[in-house]
Amino acid sequence: MFVPGLIERKRDGGALAAEEWRDLLAAYAAGELPDYQVAALLMAVFFRGMAREETAGLLEGMMGSGGRLDFSGLGRPVVDKHSTGGVGDKVSLVLAPLVASCGVAVPMMSGRGLGHTGGTLDKLESIPGFRTGLSLEETLAQVGRLGCAMIGQTPEIAPVDKKLYALRDVTATVECIPLIAASIMSKKLSEGLNGLVLDVKLGSGAFITDAARSQELAETMIALGTARGCPTVALLTAMDRPLGRACGNALEVEESVMALRGEGPQDLMDVTMALAVEMLVLAGVPGGRRSGGDPRAAARSELEAAVKSGRAAETFKAVIEAQGGNPAVVDDPAILPQAAEVEVYRASAGGTVLQVEPRVIGRAVVQMGGGRQKVDDVVDPSVGFVITARPGQSVTKGEPLASIFARDAAGVDLARAALGRAIRIGKGHADPLPLVAARINATGTERLA
Ligand code: URA
Repeated sequence: MFVPGLIERKRDGGALAAEEWRDLLAAYAAGELPDYQVAALLMAVFFRGMAREETAGLLEGMMGSGGRLDFSGLGRPVVDKHSTGGVGDKVSLVLAPLVASCGVAVPMMSGRGLGHTGGTLDKLESIPGFRTGLSLEETLAQVGRLGCAMIGQTPEIAPVDKKLYALRDVTATVECIPLIAASIMSKKLSEGLNGLVLDVKLGSGAFITDAARSQELAETMIALGTARGCPTVALLTAMDRPLGRACGNALEVEESVMALRGEGPQDLMDVTMALAVEMLVLAGVPGGRRSGGDPRAAARSELEAAVKSGRAAETFKAVIEAQGGNPAVVDDPAILPQAAEVEVYRASAGGTVLQVEPRVIGRAVVQMGGGRQKVDDVVDPSVGFVITARPGQSVTKGEPLASIFARDAAGVDLARAALGRAIRIGKGHADPLPLVAARINATGTERLA
């Protein structure tokens, strides 16, 4: 392998073959390639892009660097969800136990907070004792027993992706669709899934804010999943305002518990149900297609029954207990870490709520200590916001719009200033994005709003 020749070919608009990506990534994983050559190649990919077949070759090389979960003896379908991330996006915490309680295995593999967006692992770790670092063996055993595990990327899954991501992070090559798509799918497809649902966020709080690029990302991931025999569906959902009311780790766990009891905010319930329906339909549960009925309607009633009967909340409890956490949080969320300072934030004028800007809120949570500004920062699970103001709502002067949860007076000041920038009240008319705008699969896009 003559690496300068491969970089030159990519730089000049050519493509690398699947075997070249495989050998290159194997050498990089083994520490036999210097970062500067891989960084040069990534920058060439950033500017030249990749055709679908080449992206598939990159994906193959990433997956080949590690092991895979094998659920073949499980006797039930295995489906997962990936979200491109957002503010207040606690869907995974509700969705995984909910879908598992309907007979589908969900090995939910998630990440930590990234930039202004929160991460499922940080949220789960606000539950006292909760352990997200399960091995592949432990994950297989737990999914076999409970139908669900909620874990981080294990060292065995696509290890070269972790190394590449760290290099992309410091070489301005993260925002590149084929690199993002291969990175996400290398982890998801290593889970040995029978189906995958993608929640691709649209709007100013999304990882990618341009709608056409979000659609392209969704289509690229769908093509990669489908080509590897994993039916993949994407929903485009709104991230031009926070999802639900709670933003911040422990606050989001509390809201998730409410949602599992059927008492969550309507937008959170709607997005969770829409994604859960897609997961059940991919899994062929509860057999609506076989019985000749409408599979989406059948899936929805199965999910509603799981919430109503308490099965979904009980599954979350069992997962928490199995992963070392205190399951009592499901009955008494007051056990979760509590902020020292709580303050109500009120409207300074009457009018219509025109906007609740998610990026400002997400950044404020990080600055209050609820996320990381440096890699070794310790996350404070107690801080954040509960924002009741929604775009389009009429408010009067002095009306409560949000609650601030901070660790000290400086945190309250920072949060108050952030809410002042994020919540815009005026005379006009709010124009929020539809909550679930479209469904995309291998055959095309269906507009839902
Ligand atoms: N998340 C990932 O896992 N990979 C990316 O490249 C971007 C977001």
